[in-house]
Amino acid sequence: MDRFIIEGNGPLNGTVNVSGAKNAALPLLAASILTEDHLELGNLPRVQDVATMCALLERIGMGVQRTEDNAVLSGSSLHSHIAPYDLVKTMRASILVLGPMLARMGIARVSLPGGCAIGARPVDLHLKALERMGAEIIQETGYIEARAARLKGAPITFDKVTVTGTENIMMAATLAQGVTVLHNAALEPEVVDLADCLNAMGARIKGQGTSTIVIEGVERLHGATHETMPDRIEAGTWLCAAAITQGHVTVNRMQPEHLTAVLQTLAAAGVPMSVGCNCVEVRPHHGLHARDIVTQPYPNFPTDMQAQMTALMTQASGVSQITETIFENRFMHAAELARMGAQIQVNGRTARVTGGTELTGAKVMATDLRASASLVLAALAAEGSTTINRIYHLDRGYADLETKLQALGGNIRRAGARTKNLDRPKLVVA
Ligand code: EPZ
Repeated sequence: MDRFIIEGNGPLNGTVNVSGAKNAALPLLAASILTEDHLELGNLPRVQDVATMCALLERIGMGVQRTEDNAVLSGSSLHSHIAPYDLVKTMRASILVLGPMLARMGIARVSLPGGCAIGARPVDLHLKALERMGAEIIQETGYIEARAARLKGAPITFDKVTVTGTENIMMAATLAQGVTVLHNAALEPEVVDLADCLNAMGARIKGQGTSTIVIEGVERLHGATHETMPDRIEAGTWLCAAAITQGHVTVNRMQPEHLTAVLQTLAAAGVPMSVGCNCVEVRPHHGLHARDIVTQPYPNFPTDMQAQMTALMTQASGVSQITETIFENRFMHAAELARMGAQIQVNGRTARVTGGTELTGAKVMATDLRASASLVLAALAAEGSTTINRIYHLDRGYADLETKLQALGGNIRRAGARTKNLDRPKLVVA
């Protein structure tokens, strides 16, 4: 298994370009199922999860042609309604094909995604919503089987804000009979990006970006061309990387308005920044202050930035209280950071980070995508050498991480069996 070897060697300097958003690309790829025409997606990140979703689409018969950062998907050859366990188990976001397959084919059989390191990750809200739309759903032998000759529009209130739940039902509703109104919908920018793409395909969606989304069903969708939005979590991770190394870095090709809560927190912690329309310049700080953080749905502080901020707060003066309200087990980075000298006390959903600690290099283990990112940040600031094992977690969601870090002066190299470009897309002609 691959590992990173990182030498803490001072401030990062330069400019880094953010790639397309993994959490926008995955629903956008699933949306291609809704039409027999071609959907052309640009700015797709070269990450393992995108490769896995493309493999899943090919498995059900979609045409998938990938070049560097783009893909052309065609649904004319769609022939299977089964998303099998061997693929779904590697990426739980595969659940995003459920709604589109059911809407397009009237039947879908998707392996239950199961939990992951950060929590149980149920999909009950997805299924309850589809049943409200007239789907007949049975769960057996680890699979969800959903049937509906044609879904019917319905008013749906999500008991909890769910990002992929909102995306799944929004996609299913585009081809339903009548109007669907989603209440307590997710406001995330990735939901808006998907809605904009669906509208370009002929869907009739209003209210995206608010908690009430109205979808008027249509008979069919046509092809379109859509550019994936920049990855706001990757951008936030680079901001923290600059700050934790007291560097001078411009994070480019991002949308600062997607990170208001994170920018506010960093500024209040003492990180000097200049915000442009598609970039943020971080300058060296002269001491960081502890900040209390509570993760909540957008537009509040994102759970996907919690681990990175935890690493940064080990370098702030004072004690930071970090509360994780979204997932039940998202502090696994704490024990690994402690191996590097961090002082973090976890008590249920809250972690108390005592700042001002010297970090020293150590052998640590990645446990999930964002926890792994926090270990990279800590390693950049640590004295000495850090080895991060199981970095396949990072390859799932960060494109070209070591190349981008090396360009900023980071001393990082990959070691292990896989070649570093393994997740770069090969040209796949279906
Ligand atoms: C999306 O996951 C993201 N993944 C996650 O990013 C992100 O952390 C999460 O939203 C929250 O922002 C993708 O977009 C592919 P949820 P999702 O449904 O949709 C509960 C990353 O690191 N819930 O919004 O699976 C759930 O347990 C990943 O890039 C139910 O109870 O998250 C959680 O407590 C990690 N029943 C809360 O809702 C359901 O049916 C929010 O989950 C669905 C969710």
